[in-house]
Amino acid sequence: MRIDELDTPCLLLDLDRVERNIARMAAFFDGRPARLRPHFKTPKTPEIARRQLAAGAIGITVAKLGEAEVLADAGLGPILVANQVVGAPKLRRLVALLARGVDITVAVESEANVRAIAEAAREAGVVAQAIVEVDSGMHRCGTTTPAETVALARLLVECGIRYRGLMGYEGHAVLLPPEERQGKAEAALGIVGEHVEALAEAGLAPEIVSVGGTGTYAIAGAWPGVTEVQAGSYVFMDGRYQQVLPVEFESALTLLTTVIAVHGEYAVCDAGAKSLTNEFGAPRSVDGRLTAARLSEEHAHLTGDGVGGLAVGDRVELLPSHGDTTLNLHDVYHVRRGDEIVEEWPILGAQVPLTRTNGAAGVHYRATDIARGPGRMRCDSALGVAG
Ligand SMILES: Cc1ncc(COP(=O)(O)O)c(C=O)c1O
Repeated sequence: MRIDELDTPCLLLDLDRVERNIARMAAFFDGRPARLRPHFKTPKTPEIARRQLAAGAIGITVAKLGEAEVLADAGLGPILVANQVVGAPKLRRLVALLARGVDITVAVESEANVRAIAEAAREAGVVAQAIVEVDSGMHRCGTTTPAETVALARLLVECGIRYRGLMGYEGHAVLLPPEERQGKAEAALGIVGEHVEALAEAGLAPEIVSVGGTGTYAIAGAWPGVTEVQAGSYVFMDGRYQQVLPVEFESALTLLTTVIAVHGEYAVCDAGAKSLTNEFGAPRSVDGRLTAARLSEEHAHLTGDGVGGLAVGDRVELLPSHGDTTLNLHDVYHVRRGDEIVEEWPILGAQVPLTRTNGAAGVHYRATDIARGPGRMRCDSALGVAG
């Protein structure tokens, strides 16, 4: 099938570009002490994780159990959940994965959660594995003092959970301009280093020191003591990331749309907020001449100097400004080589898979508190800002 035969709006994934992105990141890590454990929250399809592993990744990072279950079903891993897994329903799913023999490690940051994981694992007769999440400056989840990290690592050991190390994600740095990014990332990695030192002094030297995102992969990947980097966005490079790292990686994910109206200064295409997100700024066309300046549910206002050449029925390819939240609105990637569609890959890994809903009637969104700290609380529902 050719691209112009597709109905719209639909996601296109350029496989040549994806393969080059995977190869470039793999080349950076080739021969380094730090390795790549790419984040699955970006591709959410096993075909890409499989290619990343084949290119040398040491495992896959996920944000949630739904993603871990997809990988486990595809036989891919080892899996690191770079997030808190909180609440009895999720712990049942976690121990079910462990009981299947899946190599899965979760992050922890609170005593209550460690005890709950230990209890669930004991009841299921499995051994859970965990790393401590350190707050390296993003102020999301994570321990704040090295003493807290050491205490939590000790508690893991006492509770019979296999303690494996720590993580810290410098999400507050990844999208900053270069000089500021460097400074903020180094400060964050320095904080992680202090926690590593304290663990080592306590006889709990970490086997895993996991950090980093796409904007900081080169800094984190060369930082002494770091064992792995969790970059995810590099594989698709959305519009926001393309501004931050304009040369290393190529934008591979676009949304194909159809122009449905042309009105002088502006045109309208058939992609709205139900197929495209704009919290990272207005999406642009791939040639940069059109901006999706306003989104209704099923309409986008296109403005810019490209409007003059548009007619009803024309196709416009938009580059999502935030790929991760846009692809989450779709079920499938139409995988292209040039103008040919060569494959269709499903987009998987919802937080609570559809087959496992709570059976609730009506539309409610229930979130679980996953972290508390002085003056803050985090729950497991988010827009995905900076991760
Ligand atoms: C914990 C964690 N690690 C790594 C990443 C990957 O970051 P990036 O999108 O910059 O590749 C994210 C982003 O959401 C994250 O939340």
